[in-house]
Amino acid sequence: MNDIFLRACRGEEVDYTPVWLMRQAGRYLPEYQAVRAHVDFLTLCKNPKLAAEVTLQPVDILGVDAAILFSDILIITEPMGMRLEFSEKEGPVLSEPVRSKASVERLIIPDIEEDLPFVLDTIKILRKELENKVPLIGFSGSPFTLATYMIEGGTSRNFIHTKKLMFQNNVVFSYLMEKLTDTVIAYLSAQIKAGVQAVQIFDTWAGILAPADYRKFALPYVKKVISDLRKGGVPIIYFVNDCAGILKDVKKSGADVIGIDWRIDLSDAVKKLGKNMAVQGNLDPCALFLPREKLEERVKDILWKGEAAKSHIFNLGHGVLPPTPVENVIALVDAVHTFGKKW
Ligand code: CP3
Repeated sequence: MNDIFLRACRGEEVDYTPVWLMRQAGRYLPEYQAVRAHVDFLTLCKNPKLAAEVTLQPVDILGVDAAILFSDILIITEPMGMRLEFSEKEGPVLSEPVRSKASVERLIIPDIEEDLPFVLDTIKILRKELENKVPLIGFSGSPFTLATYMIEGGTSRNFIHTKKLMFQNNVVFSYLMEKLTDTVIAYLSAQIKAGVQAVQIFDTWAGILAPADYRKFALPYVKKVISDLRKGGVPIIYFVNDCAGILKDVKKSGADVIGIDWRIDLSDAVKKLGKNMAVQGNLDPCALFLPREKLEERVKDILWKGEAAKSHIFNLGHGVLPPTPVENVIALVDAVHTFGKKW
């Protein structure tokens, strides 16, 4: 098996910089669209055979060094007792948002084997399919990012409901965060038990918080998740979107690898994290619309800057966008493999 990604996560020596991409399976791939033409998104996530098929598409088409389980961070909200829909226009919609003590009390900490067997079955299929290929990454949203969706009822602009609950009713907010922390621990532990070889925690919305609020309302919970997962023995990646202002605190999470968005220069991120941290990132997803030579220049620049870290896994600073030309994504992976050789 190509274990270069796992070696880089552990800070071991590698022959070249490994690469995988957030949202590497998705709407920009015609092969994904072909599967989606017959099933809606949630049905796809819940069908292990199809979910495994779309997970493998980018491994074969792009030649990336890791596969990421095809699912969604919001899948966990259903067995917690919420109603989840994905609308073409609005994205995810969670009806009856959680904003009161009673609504937090109603939330269930799921039994993953019972409630989400399709996720674990997908992992088991994938481990067989990927045996001689690349490692499989499992994932979850962070407690804070999951809380924002559950409180707002979907994506938000100013996160007013989340911050109101945080600031006006901290007891209820903390109660929700504690339930989410236990849920995320159970979810990722079950994924590890089923066979994922690394996990990534997505903190898409941590960057909306003032640093002091991040330290108080988000960091302690993700720290608990990470320390509890240590016994699982797999590398833990913590991706924080819009991380520039909070990187020093993000480091305290205890993750093995910190995933960085594109709004900060990778050199500055490495400086803030220190040379003993492994980093992942951080090309602007829109750089995939640049002409080939310009794209390659940016790849070389990021690879060079990544050399200062303990180790570097190449990725985008956020997910691949749906209108991205596939040939540019293939060119990106090739460029990383060509220019990221260590000798
Ligand atoms: O390839 C992979 O990265 C694995 C699959 C994956 C998806 N979502 C598939 C998906 C992963 C890891 C996620 C994580 C996820 N989901 C996050 C964290 C990362 C990030 O993007 O910040 C978040 C915030 C979500 C919630 C979510 N799911 C939103 C806001 C949306 C709608 C907007 C959008 O980007 O499409 C989704 C839908 C979604 N998740 C799609 C896919 C492939 C598109 C669904 C479709 O086929 O129509």
